[in-house]
Amino acid sequence: MDIFRTKNIATLMEGAAQQRLKKTLGATDLVLLGIGCIIGTGIFVLTGVAAAEHAGPGIMLSFVLSGLACAFAALAYAELAAIVPIAGSAYTYAYAALGEIVAWIVGWNLILEYSVGSSAVAAGWAGYMTGLLKSAGVELPRSLTAVPAEGGIVNLPAVFIAIFLSFLLVRGTKESASLNRILVAVKLTAVFIFLLLAVPRINPANWTPFMPFGFSGVATGAALIFFAYIGFDAVATTAEECKNPNRDLPIGIIGSLVVCTLLYIVVAAALTGVVPYQQLGNAEPVAYALRVLGYNFGSALVGAGAIAGITTVLLVLMYGQTRIFFAMSRDGLIPGGICVIHPTYGTPHVITIAAGIAVALIAGFTPIGTIAELTNIGTLFAFILSAIGVWVLRFTKPAIHRPFRCPAVSLVVPLAVISCGYLMYNLLYDTWIRFGVWTAIGFAVYFVYGRRNSVIGKDADPLPNK
Ligand code: ALA
Repeated sequence: MDIFRTKNIATLMEGAAQQRLKKTLGATDLVLLGIGCIIGTGIFVLTGVAAAEHAGPGIMLSFVLSGLACAFAALAYAELAAIVPIAGSAYTYAYAALGEIVAWIVGWNLILEYSVGSSAVAAGWAGYMTGLLKSAGVELPRSLTAVPAEGGIVNLPAVFIAIFLSFLLVRGTKESASLNRILVAVKLTAVFIFLLLAVPRINPANWTPFMPFGFSGVATGAALIFFAYIGFDAVATTAEECKNPNRDLPIGIIGSLVVCTLLYIVVAAALTGVVPYQQLGNAEPVAYALRVLGYNFGSALVGAGAIAGITTVLLVLMYGQTRIFFAMSRDGLIPGGICVIHPTYGTPHVITIAAGIAVALIAGFTPIGTIAELTNIGTLFAFILSAIGVWVLRFTKPAIHRPFRCPAVSLVVPLAVISCGYLMYNLLYDTWIRFGVWTAIGFAVYFVYGRRNSVIGKDADPLPNK
């Protein structure tokens, strides 16, 4: 069964040894890193859409549901990441642990998480940028800031930021830990300013009815705002750089999730408490709510903070995508030519620009809700496969060294599968159709190209049972 061939862990380790990373990260760094990758378009934009169209004030509950699913998935994910402690992603782990076809499907779905996710983040960025420019007296015409389905022609600011960041990435811009700290601080300050201004003005009457669309609306809201949690998996990919992965990885992953969940619930409570939920379905609900309260300067300040925060998320996602493509092409599953390295900058420029153009086109012409849902379904599916992989490995390779063990694995893995599956189930029918088409294309690409061109030998056992 060559489609289940696995990647040799020794080869993986060799690659890592060539560029040995310093073990510098502690628990606090990991929590900050997580927050840096997580807080973005989800809370600043999709909360409004989800409250207005699906959950009403019950969006607070949606965040709890979605956060729980992420917590289960994260615990399992951390174990896999620690077994194969290579800077990489679920794609690499699955290749070493579960076999090529599973890795391919995980990787194919990570394209949804990273590329389609980038498009949604770019669209969120555009909403706040357009709002900020408007506050500064520069009003862009709606035809150039809205997608066709929303009465415009193209979302030009979203196209701009996607192309601009891909050029930065070609130049080798990479987030550094210190820049990340500053931007996390800016982002958190924006959130706190919002809370400071909004919380005293909450009118509890706005919270009734709490679930105007019933519990099913809350569940649909949870499935949509799952997007706000995407990024916590980035913490798991730093296993190699952790001083004490066994202790710090779970603290980093769960810690950043807990911080974000709490912030999200409070922000959701404040948003739906100051403005009737029906008004929140706009491109920049947090800034909008402050303007309604009369805080024009505060609104601009929070908007600027949101833009800075969303930019970091976008940079991380776009960077992550090129590296996943890079890994897949090195393994022969996609053509190697697209991952050639730029002679001066040392970055995979062709794939970076190509991915940037794809992100720009999707963001420029597709409604943000549609892209966020597609991102979520792919990410949730990748998490489910990863969680199952953890359990399978407990049986097939019981003795391999596990620097971090998922606690109560026979409980946590099924809960991860059920809760992520439940969120998937609550996504719209159209999203499932798109996901089905995407998966079918994925299988076709694999059987036509990847299976024949894969460079992995069939004989070695990648995870010796020791
Ligand atoms: N969680 C990230 C965001 O909300 C992807 O922007």
